[in-house]
Amino acid sequence: MMKKIEEAVSYIKGLIGAEPQVGIVLGSGLGSFTKEINIEKEIPYADIPHFPVSTVKGHSGKLIYGELSGKKVLAMAGRFHYYEGYTPQEVVFPVRVMKFLGVKTLLLSNAAGATNRTFKVGDLMIINDHISFLTPNPLIGKNQEELGTRFPDMTEPYKKDLIKKADAIAAAAGYDIKHGVYISVTGPTFETKAEYRMVLALGADVVGMSTVQEVIAGVHMGLDVFAVSVVTDLGIREEENVITHEEVLEAAKEAEPKLTHIFKELVAQL
Ligand code: HPA
Repeated sequence: MMKKIEEAVSYIKGLIGAEPQVGIVLGSGLGSFTKEINIEKEIPYADIPHFPVSTVKGHSGKLIYGELSGKKVLAMAGRFHYYEGYTPQEVVFPVRVMKFLGVKTLLLSNAAGATNRTFKVGDLMIINDHISFLTPNPLIGKNQEELGTRFPDMTEPYKKDLIKKADAIAAAAGYDIKHGVYISVTGPTFETKAEYRMVLALGADVVGMSTVQEVIAGVHMGLDVFAVSVVTDLGIREEENVITHEEVLEAAKEAEPKLTHIFKELVAQL
C-alpha cells in the first residue's frame, strides 16, 4: 500500500507547486464549492496511479489544486463510496495520498438524511461525533506503521478547535447551525422507515453513506478533521413522500452557499 501511495503522491507532486495544507472532500451535489478555489491544476482521477474512478452522478471525479483564502488546498470533486464496490481501503486511498502530499487539515462534506426531528431540509450539521455502523473499518488488515498506530484513539475524531471556529463563523453569518452525530450505512438504498427509526434509536442525528471511513483514515494518520452534513431529506417524517437522488442533489445545491462560506472562512483561520 505504501508503494501505491508513494506512486500517486509522486505523480501529483510533479504537477503541483507548493505542498497543499488543507484537503477538502466534497459530497453529493456539493462540488461547485471548487469555484471558490483559485485553480492552478485539475487532475482527473483516471490519470493518477492507483486512484479509483468515481461512478456516481453529481460527482465529477477530479482533484483540484489551488489557492483558497491564502492557503494551498487540494479538493476532491467527487469521492469514492463503499456502495460503488470499492474496498474500504480504496475509499480512503485519496485521503492517504493527501496526507503524504503535506495536508494537515481535512475538511469533509456530505449529504445526509436527518433522523433528528428538529432538523429541516437544507440545514447544516457540524458533525461532532460519528457511529461507524455498517461501513467496514478501513483499518482492518495489517497495520501500516508508517501511516499510524494499530489502535487509534477516537475520543475526538472531529477537532473541537475547528468546530469552535466554525461555530463562530456560522454565528457571525446568522446561520442556525446544528450539531450532531452522523451514522454510516452502506447504501445505496435509502433507509426503510424502520431503519430510520433504528438509527435514531442508536443515537444518530443524521445518516449517510460516506465520510466515516475517510475520517477514520484521517485520524489514523493524525490529520485534524472537520466535517459538515447537509440535511437533504428527513428520514423521520409524517408525510409518505419518497426520497430520490435528484431531491438530495437539489437540497444540497440550495444549502451549498452556507457550507462554502464556512469552509472558506475556516481555511482562512487555519
Ligand atoms: N440516508 C442515507 N444516505 C443519505 C440520505 C439518507 O436519507 N440522504 C442523503 N444521503
